[in-house]
Amino acid sequence: MSRLVPPPLSLYLHFPWCVRKCPYCDFNSYTLNGQLQEAAYLEALERDLETQAPEVAGREVISVFMGGGTPSLFPPSAIDRVLAAARRHLTFASDVEVTMEANPGTIERGRFAEYRAAGVNRVSLGAQSFDTRTLQVLGRIHSPDETRRAAEELHAAGLTNFNLDLMYALPGQDVAAAMADVESALALKPTHLSHYQLTLEPGTVFAAQPPADLPTDDTAAEILAVCGARLAEAGFGQYEVSAYAQPGRQCRHNLNYWTFGDYLGVGAGAHGKITRVGDDLGAGARSDPRGAIIRTTQSRDPRRYMAAPTATRTSVPEAQRPFEFMLNALRLIDGFEIATFEQRTGLPWETVVREVEKLLTRKLLEVQGPRLRTTMVGMRFLNNLLLSFLEETPQTTGAFGLSTAI
Ligand SMILES: C[S@@+](CC[C@H](N)C(=O)[O-])C[C@H]1O[C@@H](n2cnc3c(N)ncnc32)[C@H](O)[C@@H]1O
Ligand code: SF4
Repeated sequence: MSRLVPPPLSLYLHFPWCVRKCPYCDFNSYTLNGQLQEAAYLEALERDLETQAPEVAGREVISVFMGGGTPSLFPPSAIDRVLAAARRHLTFASDVEVTMEANPGTIERGRFAEYRAAGVNRVSLGAQSFDTRTLQVLGRIHSPDETRRAAEELHAAGLTNFNLDLMYALPGQDVAAAMADVESALALKPTHLSHYQLTLEPGTVFAAQPPADLPTDDTAAEILAVCGARLAEAGFGQYEVSAYAQPGRQCRHNLNYWTFGDYLGVGAGAHGKITRVGDDLGAGARSDPRGAIIRTTQSRDPRRYMAAPTATRTSVPEAQRPFEFMLNALRLIDGFEIATFEQRTGLPWETVVREVEKLLTRKLLEVQGPRLRTTMVGMRFLNNLLLSFLEETPQTTGAFGLSTAI
């Protein structure tokens, strides 16, 4: 019988406001109307941290990610206060990675140096495209030159470990235009590049009124291949469906998500995942010698969150764990080791072996040394492939697909 082993621990901090909501975005983000409720939000974050910290007492935090929304709407003094509170309540590893997302339209001169002084050591900048008209169609608040200036500011501040977010398969975009975006991004000397295919997410303006002139699936596939080859040539290895990095510059925080690691989720709408080993079950949890994987969710609405920053907690049933693990680990280009599956789901490999063998036969998965990974074909059909892990495991805890509230 396998037992849960606590994986590395990260901290996610959510900042829910943006200057303007982009029409494609389904993140928990809201157009800022009026004054930023800085003091009230910081206070709620601190209360949230204080409540959740005992859950991970004695464990080291390997990475912090401040995402949004637009964390860079908050001044350096606010980021300093949040990070100081996190350090008070948690134990940071000596080489902790601290990433902050920034929108190029919110960066004033000198700001990045102050964020760095507050403890930020990695930045993720939302460039999206370097084509002025495309940025307008995407509803972005910045020009290509503002992105270039923000990157210069990053270098000047010594924050040279930064990511650029680019989207592709954008309205009116052909392969040459997508390649031009990649070239413009590389010219800014980032260490990491996220290359996301535009998706029409339910509930967004783009889903209701799709923009004209979207590239075909074939064009999108060609963009992915051609840009991937260019990035490889420039020394950026692909390590996840949408992530490319220079050697040693993979995002430690996202890698922890994709290897089914643990994370505290703090802030409006933030999600967390915490592994409890058998003897360590906290108050309110049903005692189970096999331990538990707890998911936490905060109120999405910032006002509700500020009024009561108290997470809802659910336990992930054993039957659901293979799917949740695969959903993350099979996105990684190098896949995962069997031991990691067993330690992080608490289940023996036999639980999934039949499905895995079928997928190996169909050449959607492959074995590489001690690792199992998705093939190139498998990556194209990743969503279908993952469905294989939804129904195979015995239903040991309640109805399949439903989490058990504790
Ligand atoms: C929270 S935002 C990043 C920070 C900041 N809010 C900004 O936009 O500059 C995360 C990233 O997800 C990507 N993204 C959001 N919605 C998307 C969609 N529908 N399709 C593809 N990528 C999307 C964008 O590249 C965006 O930069
Ligand atoms: S993409 Fe970024 S700036 Fe645009 S709405 Fe989403 S979180 Fe806000």
